[in-house]
Amino acid sequence: MSTDSHELVEISEGKAKILVPKSERKSKGPGKIDAPVFYNPAMAHNRDISVIVLQAFVELRGRRVDVLDGMAASGVRGIRFCKEIEGDFSVTINDWSEESHSLIQKNIERSWCSNAVASNRDLNNLLGEKSFDYIDIDPFGTAVPFIDNAVRAVRHKGILAITTTDTATLCGSGALPCIRRYGAKPMQCDFMHEVGLRIFAGYVVRTAAKYDRAARPLLCYADGHYMRCYFEILDGAKRADALLLEMGYAHLNMETRARKISSVSSCRKPWKSAGPLWIGKMFDAEFLETISEPREMMEKKDVARLFSIWKEEADAPPLYYTTAELSSVFRVDPPPVLELIDKLRSNGFFASKTHFSPMGVKTDAPLEKIGKILRQKPNRNQA
Ligand SMILES: C[S@@+](CC[C@H](N)C(=O)[O-])C[C@H]1O[C@@H](n2cnc3c(N)ncnc32)[C@H](O)[C@@H]1O
Repeated sequence: MSTDSHELVEISEGKAKILVPKSERKSKGPGKIDAPVFYNPAMAHNRDISVIVLQAFVELRGRRVDVLDGMAASGVRGIRFCKEIEGDFSVTINDWSEESHSLIQKNIERSWCSNAVASNRDLNNLLGEKSFDYIDIDPFGTAVPFIDNAVRAVRHKGILAITTTDTATLCGSGALPCIRRYGAKPMQCDFMHEVGLRIFAGYVVRTAAKYDRAARPLLCYADGHYMRCYFEILDGAKRADALLLEMGYAHLNMETRARKISSVSSCRKPWKSAGPLWIGKMFDAEFLETISEPREMMEKKDVARLFSIWKEEADAPPLYYTTAELSSVFRVDPPPVLELIDKLRSNGFFASKTHFSPMGVKTDAPLEKIGKILRQKPNRNQA
């Protein structure tokens, strides 16, 4: 399929107006590969967040920032960077497909992006030759084949941003593919998206450590069919070792449905385990605060909503319960999430919503205590 024989249409996303091949598009999900160059409008939200993160990084860096949009397809992300981000930076917009490359060139020219260049390389070869301050990787499916080279190609204190769309594997659709690809055992359960995201983050942390580099998670989230993580990459074996101390396992008691994390894999029946995975923070609270300072993008309701949940759960312990599961364990009506959070907090526990599920609650309360709270009769005097 070549773009020459395929009709191109202009689309707008953020402040970018670019050409993409005409295609049937859905507003949700992975997007169809039915055109010579891929463009999925459902990922605009993913790109919105990357604009916010890169703008903050360019401001913090205080010197010229070299950016790589490594798997760019139409070039929409890199062109949005040029149109929406202020400061001193340049963007290499790369894709190994010739059709993509010529469309990227066309889009750069018609967008008057003077700080962007198109590149037509195999990402792994490019990463083997050049380093960047910020690298974005956005493959079809797993990002594993690019991670070794990417963790080495990001400069000290730079950012590695990775999208991975093999959510089914990470969430345990089959144990073997996950073990083969990530060296970790997944778990199909209510909180499998968090387990999958932590397996993915842990894989990047371990890969960077092999090269005496630390990949510190700044912002990791799951959204529908994909997962996305931003890491700060730092030089130093000691820094890498410190992060390895935050690797561990997630455990689920198959009888009581209690869950816990630990640094060891062994847990006797009726416990079931997943990992190794990242058991540290998925969000750097200070970083979240910095990047969400009033900016134009925060005027978008869905972006502002996500940031507010992320900030709430930044200090939460790993793993969560869903109200559906709690209702079945304790044989009570499913409690409204906000009501349960209020009750847990008034009993002195940490409790927050989670972006993983609208029915999810993160808390440090032990399961028996949650049961007691759920069964508490409402105090009539309070009405
Ligand atoms: C999911 S699409 C990228 C979407 C794009 N980042 C966006 O936001 O619209 C994946 C792209 O990676 C490109 N690709 C796949 N393997 C590659 C490789 N080894 N080197 C460079 N590009 C590659 C494909 O040609 C495809 O355009």
